[in-house]
Amino acid sequence: MSLESKLLKLSQLREKAKIGGGQRRIDSQHKKGKFIARERIEMLLDQDSFEEFDMFVTHRCVDFGLADRKIPSDGVITGYGTIDGRLVMVFSQDFTVFGGSLSKAFSEKICKIMDMAAKMGVPVIGLNDSGGARIQEGVDSLAGYADIFLRNVKYSGVVPQISAIMGPCAGGAVYSPAITDFTIMTKDISYMFVTGPKVVKTVTNEIVTNEELGGSMIHCTHSGVSHFLAENEEEALMLLRKLLSYMPSNNMEDPPATICNDPVDRMEDSLNEIIPDNPNKPYDMHDVIQMLVDDGEFLEVHRLYAPNIIVGFARFNGKPVGMVANQPRYLAGVLDINASIKGARFVRFCDCFNIPIITLEDVPGFMPGTVQEFGGIIRNGAKLLYAFAEATVPKITIITRKAYGGAYCVMSSKHIRGDLNYAWPTAEIAVMGPKGAVEIIYGKELKELEREDRDKRVCELETDYKERFANPYVAAERGFVDDVIEPRRTRFRIIRGLEMLATKKDTNPPRKHGNIPL
Ligand code: HXC
Repeated sequence: MSLESKLLKLSQLREKAKIGGGQRRIDSQHKKGKFIARERIEMLLDQDSFEEFDMFVTHRCVDFGLADRKIPSDGVITGYGTIDGRLVMVFSQDFTVFGGSLSKAFSEKICKIMDMAAKMGVPVIGLNDSGGARIQEGVDSLAGYADIFLRNVKYSGVVPQISAIMGPCAGGAVYSPAITDFTIMTKDISYMFVTGPKVVKTVTNEIVTNEELGGSMIHCTHSGVSHFLAENEEEALMLLRKLLSYMPSNNMEDPPATICNDPVDRMEDSLNEIIPDNPNKPYDMHDVIQMLVDDGEFLEVHRLYAPNIIVGFARFNGKPVGMVANQPRYLAGVLDINASIKGARFVRFCDCFNIPIITLEDVPGFMPGTVQEFGGIIRNGAKLLYAFAEATVPKITIITRKAYGGAYCVMSSKHIRGDLNYAWPTAEIAVMGPKGAVEIIYGKELKELEREDRDKRVCELETDYKERFANPYVAAERGFVDDVIEPRRTRFRIIRGLEMLATKKDTNPPRKHGNIPL
């Protein structure tokens, strides 16, 4: 055979692979408002940067008539390319081939790029669109999933792993995205569940749709499984690019810095006015974040989930940071189970990947009540405490207003290795708010008073308590806050602090791993 005919054969094989499950299935995918696997890769990566692996891989199953139904690539496109010039490994499941279901060969392709990502120290991006385990392959397919899960775990905290869900994601398939660092879901088109509506009906007699059971809104607002909601696939892929811009390629590198045109010493006069005179009046912590960070740009993570805490990425003087902030506008910024878990996971991500953490604190405490206690607020609140305490990246905390009780300790306080802890003059640092405190300390005395005298006395005692504790100076006297700063100078103080902390070295004692209260 001449080279010419050999090249012809090669290009015919490539064409066959490119058409996947055939034009009819491609059209059907497009009709649903979905792109196909290769189109998604094109949209995600820098132009012409994609290099594909294993285009000729096929499954090895001979059961259920599959022996003569072999499609090159076998339902997943894998390879490498760049995003903003930085190397990434990517896989993209092809729903047109056996519904994107996972065969052993399919999983081997994914494992190959995951292993390469770990060796090269670069992120792994998975674009998921799959009917789950390939039923005809039986245990081979289950083994394939487990091979991927193992790598998700082994490389967790070594290289960033990001999942976009762009169609169905069912059965055990959901556990790979769940282990990855961030999950993006597309509105109306994607869903994730361990068992689908039919099984649910059989087992629990509930009647639910795909969307009701595991649609993007459910996972972005209720379960917290998904971190981002994208209107469509294009938005999901652009979001993914943006998200990567805040993280290093691996745990040995620092996150990439960009050029900053926002003045380092920009004063924000309105921050001096932002805290209301009435301590029970809310304000929007998003406004504070926006005024502090470079160009007001903030990429919020878990925006729709547990909004009483805000987490996300921003930059100070061009350098990425993770922001963790209580949100007084929602449940007064209280820490409940979901907020604690949300905050803890984000703090741990930042710590894995050398991203400094800036904490903005205005927290009345942990949420009381039977719902929270029965749900394990003790165990779950401890996750946030554990995460902040274990983190060795630079940590700067600004107490804007309330820092009460256990929540004061938890929110990156000095005592759990906060590096720089500043308070605004409006800070109130105490074991609890004046009302609760007075009732407990003076309960007996107050009981003996008549109603009118009692109200007067409560008022006096509360004022006295506030004077003593509702300020930052007791903490400052003890060195528990490093300085009391003028709110409008906060950006400057944070940037200076980050510069000072750039060479920070801190470690935890040698051990196999800690035992976070899961
Ligand atoms: C083999 C599959 C498949 C699967 C879909 N297909 N899922 N082939 N194994 N798991 C094939 C279909 O036969 C069909 O082939 C094509 O993909 C498209 O599927 P449709 O059903 O026509 O598409 P649609 O109506 O859009 O429905 C998509 C779907 C549905 C919701 C994903 O296919 C579905 O429910 N699939 C099964 C989901 C599931 O239960 N998976 C197993 C989960 S258990 P043709 O040739 O007609 O185009 C699991 C265990 C893993 O994953 C455990 C790991 C620990």
